[in-house]
Amino acid sequence: MTQSLAARFEADIAAAADLAALEAVRVAALGKSGEVTQLLKSLGGMDAETRTAEAPRIHALREAVTSAIAAKKEALEAAELDRRLATEHLDLSLPAGEWPRGSIHPVSQVMDELTEIFADMGFAVAEGPEIEDDWHNFSALNIPETHPARAMHDTFYIEGSGGHQVLRTHTSPVQIRTMQSTQPPIRIIAPGRVYRSDSDATHTPMFHQIEGLVIDRGITMGHLKWTLETFLKAFFERDDVVLRLRPSYFPFTEPSAEVDVGWSMEKGRRVVGGSEGWMEVLGSGMVHPRVISACGLDPGEWQGFAFGTGVDRLAMLKYGMDDLRAFFDGDLRWMKHYGFTFLDVPTLSGGVGA
Ligand code: DAH
Repeated sequence: MTQSLAARFEADIAAAADLAALEAVRVAALGKSGEVTQLLKSLGGMDAETRTAEAPRIHALREAVTSAIAAKKEALEAAELDRRLATEHLDLSLPAGEWPRGSIHPVSQVMDELTEIFADMGFAVAEGPEIEDDWHNFSALNIPETHPARAMHDTFYIEGSGGHQVLRTHTSPVQIRTMQSTQPPIRIIAPGRVYRSDSDATHTPMFHQIEGLVIDRGITMGHLKWTLETFLKAFFERDDVVLRLRPSYFPFTEPSAEVDVGWSMEKGRRVVGGSEGWMEVLGSGMVHPRVISACGLDPGEWQGFAFGTGVDRLAMLKYGMDDLRAFFDGDLRWMKHYGFTFLDVPTLSGGVGA
């Protein structure tokens, strides 16, 4: 009896093709109501003589089945590991012949360049929410409800918020959030998405801006001009970048200046550098005392400057694209032409840096 059982289990164990099948054999033999378990239980009902004869056989059967299952389990696990080692592998070499597919969008690339340049000047990167409240996007920036600038922003309002929540129309609210949460001195840039209900060759409903903010004691327009000049020279990678500050108006700065950069013609193309003509690239100014006090700081003690510009526009100027809409079409041919590879990491030593 035990011998035929042993033979059957041996055959079943040998036939088990995977761990699940082996487990089924184990349950059938050694489980709570398995056949070997039943035999062990039957010892109690035997008379002494039969038990003396049967006990060693039954125990030997249990030993045999147990060790056969353990051996098979080890073999199955080893086979599984071999299979995985043969099929799963990681190619750590760089592709040499075929150029890797996929590319980095010029907006991402330019944001990395900007971060690198400003980090070198001691600026940290700050962020804020894209769904912003009215106070941070407008009121705290000295744009009260009746201010005409609100209409100029073509704001997207969040449905159901009673006009209190908007898709941020600029990155300037990050200035407010930073001044509220950080004790000066402050030096930050805030790159990110912004939204306005506007669409043509040079406007898309979503676009990218970068904001800069410096708050400290004794800050002047001179610091602003030096910072912007250093930044634009590093960004366009030319020493002959010329700036022109024009008096302007922004509610959140006083005085305010629009910054033009000089261009010249090179091989029939208009490029940044020289001063044959001017184009506007930035808005800037000294942070309005009302903005500073709205954030709980004393404008008698703390001054600063701020600036803001379009990241997409900077990318177009530097890399020569002329239609903003193409940035967001997801056309792979455009990406292949204007995109960057993962090896194009902007570095100070590579040229992008202050
Ligand atoms: N927030 C402005 C806009 O979206 C840009 C700007 C202008 C930001 C002047 C500034 C600044 O910080 O000082 O048009």
